[in-house]
Amino acid sequence: MNIILLGPPGAGKEHSGGADREERKMVQLSTGAMLRAAVAAGTEIGKKADAIMKSGGLVSDDIVIGIINDRIDEPDCQGGFILDGFPRTLPQAAALDKLLQQKGKKLDKVVEIKVDDAALVDRISGRFSCAKCGAGYHDRHKPTKTPGVCDNCGATEFTRRADDNAETVKSRLMAYYRETAPLIGYYFAKEKLQSVDGMAPIDEVTSQINAALG
Ligand code: AP5
Repeated sequence: MNIILLGPPGAGKEHSGGADREERKMVQLSTGAMLRAAVAAGTEIGKKADAIMKSGGLVSDDIVIGIINDRIDEPDCQGGFILDGFPRTLPQAAALDKLLQQKGKKLDKVVEIKVDDAALVDRISGRFSCAKCGAGYHDRHKPTKTPGVCDNCGATEFTRRADDNAETVKSRLMAYYRETAPLIGYYFAKEKLQSVDGMAPIDEVTSQINAALG
C-alpha cells in the first residue's frame, strides 16, 4: 500500500503517522528529514536547501521530485510507503502521478490530518528529539518519562530543529496554505482523500490513520 500523509507543519505526520507501518511493511519517507540529512552532510542538495528551509520556504520542486523518484526504487520501499511532506505543491503532485505510473505503482490513499492553526505553533515550538536515536518528544504533550533522559535509548543529549521557532513557523504555515492546501481538493477530486481529527491525542490519531488505511 502506498499512501500520502497530508497536513500543515506540526499536524503530526511524523509522530502519529502509522504505528503499525512495520506490520504492513511500509516505509515512512519524509522529504523534510531527507533534506535535513543532506544539509547535515553538506551535499550539493543540502547547500541549496539550507537557507530556504531556515526561512520556512519550500525547496524547489525539481530537487524533491528527484529525491523521491530515486528513493522509492530502493528495495525497502517495495512493500509500500508513506509519503510524509511530499507532495507539497500541485506540480509535485502531478510529477508523483507520472512517476508512479512509469514505475507501475499506484497511490492507494491520501490521509489528511486536520489541526487547528493555533495548536500548530504550540506543537512545533515545544518539539525536541533525542540526539542519539532520534526519538521525538514535546515539552508538554510528550515529555520524557525521566526528565532529561531518552525513554528509548537512555541518552541525555537532545536537539531542536533550526526551523522550529515562532517566526519561521508562520512562514511555513503561509507556504502550506499557499502551495499545499490546494492538494486537498486535488486528491478529493481523485477520490483518494480521507480526513482524520489531528486534534485528538496522538495514539487516537494513529488509530484513526490505521483505520483509514483499512
Ligand atoms: P518537514 O520536515 O516536512 O516539516 P513540516 O511539514 O513543517 O512538518 P513537521 O515535521 O514540522 O510536522 P509534522 O506534521 O511531522 O509534526 P510532528 O509529527 O513532528 O519540512 C521541513 C522543511 O523542508 C520545509 O519547511 C521545506 O523547506 C522543506 N521541504 C520538505 N519537503 C518538501 C517538499 N516536498 N517540497 C519543498 N520543500 C520541502 O508533530 C509536531 C509536534 O507535535 C511533536 O512534538 C509531536 O509530539 C506533537 N504532536 C503531534 N501530534 C499531536 C497530537 N495529536 N496531540 C498533541 N501533540 C501532538
